[in-house]
Amino acid sequence: MDLYEYQARDLFEAHGVPVLAGIVAQTPEEAKAAAEKIGGTVVVKAQVKVGGRGKAGGVKLAKSADEAYEHAQAILGMDIKGHTVHRVMIAQGADIAEEYYFSILLDRAQRNYLAMCSKEGGVEIEQLAEERPEALARVAVDPNTGVDAEKAREIAEKAGFTEDLDQLVEVFQTLWTVFQKEDATLVEVNPLVKTGEGKIIALDGKVTVDENAAYRQPGHADLVDEQTEDPLEAKAKENDLNYVKLDGQVGVIGNGAGLVMSTLDVVAYAGEAHNGVKPANFLDIGGGASAEVMANGLDVILGDDQVKSVFVNVFGGITSCDAVANGIVKALEILGDTASKPLVVRLDGNNVEEGRRILDEANHPLVTIADTMDEGADKAAELANK
Ligand SMILES: Nc1ncnc2c1ncn2[C@@H]1O[C@H](COP(=O)(O)OP(=O)(O)O)[C@@H](O)[C@H]1O
Ligand SMILES: [Mg+2]
Repeated sequence: MDLYEYQARDLFEAHGVPVLAGIVAQTPEEAKAAAEKIGGTVVVKAQVKVGGRGKAGGVKLAKSADEAYEHAQAILGMDIKGHTVHRVMIAQGADIAEEYYFSILLDRAQRNYLAMCSKEGGVEIEQLAEERPEALARVAVDPNTGVDAEKAREIAEKAGFTEDLDQLVEVFQTLWTVFQKEDATLVEVNPLVKTGEGKIIALDGKVTVDENAAYRQPGHADLVDEQTEDPLEAKAKENDLNYVKLDGQVGVIGNGAGLVMSTLDVVAYAGEAHNGVKPANFLDIGGGASAEVMANGLDVILGDDQVKSVFVNVFGGITSCDAVANGIVKALEILGDTASKPLVVRLDGNNVEEGRRILDEANHPLVTIADTMDEGADKAAELANK
């Protein structure tokens, strides 16, 4: 889960990373009150989970509380790269002397953590990495030792810092604490600034926390933003379904993440022959494909207006195909008229004959049975293109 800047700021503050005062506001009135509370020059910052807010006009300096009110009025409701601004953060204005870049992230390819740092912050880091890779230091971080004083110094020196080393080392170590204690997969500070007084401060923060660690991070539940959460994903989460919405037209249900992933590939491939239709989602119903789980899964998928057909691709293992087939039949009963789109079902594995017999017998007008995964994907893509 990606956090908003104000949430990242709060986490930074809680762990002792130097930040400026910041108060989140949902209305121009709240923004004005926040500006009065902070006092002096403030910055009104759009809170959206996307970078480049400054360039898009979502970061504005205000010299007075009235000006903060006006900027908040203009920024609230603004669309930044497809994200509507529902909140702004009123931040204390910084006297910026220099802008740096620092991040720690999970480097999946290397099975390790990676710290990146540059004296040239504030700019889009992807652009810097591409145009001047030598200006971006990359240092591997061993998870067992993390960013200790020695590692922090190595990062700072590799980025070309010769001054403020003690301060930088302290800040990097504290950011590592945030990364580790919060079970983050990304902590990025862009810009990390040096003020006119020579103080190092995290001015913008981006944090991604690992949802797999939610069980030991009870505080993270409060960070979920129901306002912008996808309603289908929220519904799936309520039912403990492993669902990710995608952009296509063929709904996909399978059991086991590996099978679902390959089903997405096969559907995308089959879709090439049917006007380029694509998979509409990832949905893994896991081991026990009971009628209830199947009904919940279908309910989520059919709630997606973009979906034109559904491909149910199940391999019967511990839960045998007859149980899955009964699950599908009962799920369609439970859903009644809500089930309004064609379903292609491919069953294989344990007790497959009996499973197909059950589906044949039920003879549901929406259900087509496919013998193979390729055939099923092709049929579902064809139906989605009708
Ligand atoms: N509190 C602040 N005081 C002064 N300038 C700021 C402040 N916050 C941001 N800025 C300026 O605005 C730029 C963009 O802000 P930032 O928070 O990095 O948003 P984004 O990365 O989405 O563009 C920063 O590089 C900095 O120059
Ligand atoms: Mg930034």
